[in-house]
Amino acid sequence: MDVKSLNEKFGINGRISIEEGQGGLPVVYLKGNYSTASVCLLGAHVMSWCPAGGQDVLWMSDKSLFTVGKAIRGGIPVCWPWFSKHPENESFPMHGFARIMMWELANVSAEAEDTVAVFELESSEESMKMFPGKFRLRLTVRAGKELSVQLKTVNTGDEAFTITQALHTYYNVGDITKVTIEGFDGLCCLDKVNNGVLKVRHDPFIIDCNVDEVYGDAPGAAVIHDAALDRDINIGKEGSASAVVWNPWIEKSISMADFPDEGYKTMLCVETANVAEDKRTIQPGMEHSMTLKVRVR
Ligand code: BG6
Repeated sequence: MDVKSLNEKFGINGRISIEEGQGGLPVVYLKGNYSTASVCLLGAHVMSWCPAGGQDVLWMSDKSLFTVGKAIRGGIPVCWPWFSKHPENESFPMHGFARIMMWELANVSAEAEDTVAVFELESSEESMKMFPGKFRLRLTVRAGKELSVQLKTVNTGDEAFTITQALHTYYNVGDITKVTIEGFDGLCCLDKVNNGVLKVRHDPFIIDCNVDEVYGDAPGAAVIHDAALDRDINIGKEGSASAVVWNPWIEKSISMADFPDEGYKTMLCVETANVAEDKRTIQPGMEHSMTLKVRVR
């Protein structure tokens, strides 16, 4: 559907509009009294969430590609149905295919506090080449006093399937050297930078090198304390008992073509996930939802 038809069907005066964004891709804009957000139909990718009068909470790369089949860099990539490399076939896309496919805009609503847009992706011939399960994915983005992003997986087939997944959120920070992260003290993680050794994380959790840590058992909320921007980003969640923390630091930033060389200074990924021992098996006709809830103080 083109942008004009999308607006005719889903536009809500002053609250929801659809515009052509970079790469000619449709972007849904949500506006409310408390915040604004934007979501690209490629990957149902949340690119911005900005509380009224504040700065954007999400970081976007100014070198990102906007091409079907490639991931957008920044915002909230939807990693599904596998996180990281495919366990058996490395030629399949990193972090699954949901983030590189076009989704449908399925529904919108403008409520007193919240502006809501719902996106859907269903199994197809293309998806079945990489993942045998039949599914319907539903991403509900709710922008109000908080940002809530719910990813629901429905098994529409007659065989059970198992997924790993992440809402791979890139948070905007003022100065990474002045950030501390709360919520991981005493938790065990797989340290991907050091050949996947297991280690226990202790506070203070600061970022001063390439960090790529997978927490298989991290059911609680996390907080990013950002001294430079003088704000705390509270990361709540439901249906997720695992998490990933990632900052590429200097050399990896330089090595990524779609990432600014100094981008690592102003971003941090704290990913809401079902990974490692927290992977989920969904029976035929059943569903699983994972929800991210972000607030700023
Ligand atoms: C993280 C992974 O979640 O995503 C890292 O743990 C990876 O290993 C990072 O480098 C970025 O992945 P991509 O595919 O978006 O470059």
